[in-house]
Amino acid sequence: MKDRPIVSMEEMERQREYMRLVRAMGHRPHSYHIVSMGCQMNERDSESIAGMLSEMGMVAQPVREQADLILYNTCCVRENAENKALGNVIWLKELKKTRPELMICVGGCMTQEKDMAAMMKARYPFIDLVYGTHNLYKLPEYVYRVLTERRPVVEVMDIDGEVVEGMPELRRNHFNAFVNIMYGCDNFCTYCIVPYVRGRERSREPGAVVEECKRLRDEGAQEIMLLGQNVNSYRGGGAAFADLLYQVDRLGIPRIRFMTSHPKDLSDELIAAFGELEHLMPQLHLPVQSGSNEVLKRMNRRYTREHYLDLVKRLRAVKPEIGLTSDIIVGFPGETLEQFEETMSLVEAVRFDAAYTFIYSPRKGTRAAEYPDDTPYEVKSERIQRLIDLQQAISLEALTAQVGRRERVLVEAVSTRDAGSVGGKTPRGHMVNFPGDASLIGHFVDAEITSAGRNTLRGRRIITEA
Ligand code: 5AD
Ligand code: SF4
Repeated sequence: MKDRPIVSMEEMERQREYMRLVRAMGHRPHSYHIVSMGCQMNERDSESIAGMLSEMGMVAQPVREQADLILYNTCCVRENAENKALGNVIWLKELKKTRPELMICVGGCMTQEKDMAAMMKARYPFIDLVYGTHNLYKLPEYVYRVLTERRPVVEVMDIDGEVVEGMPELRRNHFNAFVNIMYGCDNFCTYCIVPYVRGRERSREPGAVVEECKRLRDEGAQEIMLLGQNVNSYRGGGAAFADLLYQVDRLGIPRIRFMTSHPKDLSDELIAAFGELEHLMPQLHLPVQSGSNEVLKRMNRRYTREHYLDLVKRLRAVKPEIGLTSDIIVGFPGETLEQFEETMSLVEAVRFDAAYTFIYSPRKGTRAAEYPDDTPYEVKSERIQRLIDLQQAISLEALTAQVGRRERVLVEAVSTRDAGSVGGKTPRGHMVNFPGDASLIGHFVDAEITSAGRNTLRGRRIITEA
């Protein structure tokens, strides 16, 4: 195994010095707005970014146009994510014409793509800072340089393998928290750009993860989500993922969830953990991607349809009420109608609570981007629509089966669609809305499920006598 460079305490101290220097500057930005695109890993990174910008003396500005510093934390997993990021950034050029002092920063997965930083430097000179996924911790130094050198800073590193501890953070809320346990991915599924932009797998030490969870618990966390591109291949200080889960479970945080899992690495110990751990919620996101063995092979997923179905059977044997969700790609290069039908029949057989479906999007530099693809886009669109219709019917059935049940809900937010209502999740991960106000946010409430909608449940609060 190659030596893993660790960002030293001295380096973090150096960055803290830059935070102090920026804070002391009169002409620095005083407010910031972060646009976080893509997955939970990016959302978690945005909490570190918010922490660093706060330490630099800036406050969050909810209205993007009014912020002194706008930062895009980008995604590039599919082409539309990338187009959205680039479209937004180009729009900022106009804003900058009216407010020349505005600082524009772009980081995250998209900037880490091959040739992207050079392209941005040449074509979008109004961007003040471009950084990548491996040097996020240097944000304070870069902001300082933009302010002192008064010219754009473009720094994207190719090295990876670092685990950075001790970055400041400003969490979204105190009651449900994301905790990174590993970074990167070594799987190289042939459609996926993540291994190229997030680098090789590296795990945090179990002690560091447990300490962070303990601190979050002491600050009031009711639910934590352990995060990694592929948490099942976690290996920190000799501990496997299931070992880590047992350690975290002992802390007594009421709810633990994790994502994302790879079917090829889902261990027997992890399946057993669903039956044993008190705080592990009966919910699992287990992306299947396709129901065809031929397609799975060309995707380099390294499991079969039969293996996947067997995992589902075993999970349900241990935890009958487990809620399963999945990701599915339609129209992978060369996917025949017959192979697509195999995905449909797998979805019928498994009966996911929900599935996120995507039309295959070629990503430059990945192996599948070189595969011949003769299926017209309209055919792919028709296929995905059939899949969405099928999954919606199955989701509705799963939600309808919850009606009449009593569920413990951790209230997350005031409902945006439903005036006078709040929403939160059941252990299985279903969203329930019921009448209530913001004072319930972050608290557990018992609810009776009264009806099922397309994606959410409705309920009424049960007030039990003490
Ligand atoms: N095209 C379409 N979907 C993709 N995903 C990843 N890469 C691609 C791609 N090139 C999907 C997978 C993955 C989810 C996060 O995004 O289903 O599980
Ligand atoms: Fe991408 Fe596959 Fe890694 Fe998931 S497991 S991030 S799909 S390469």
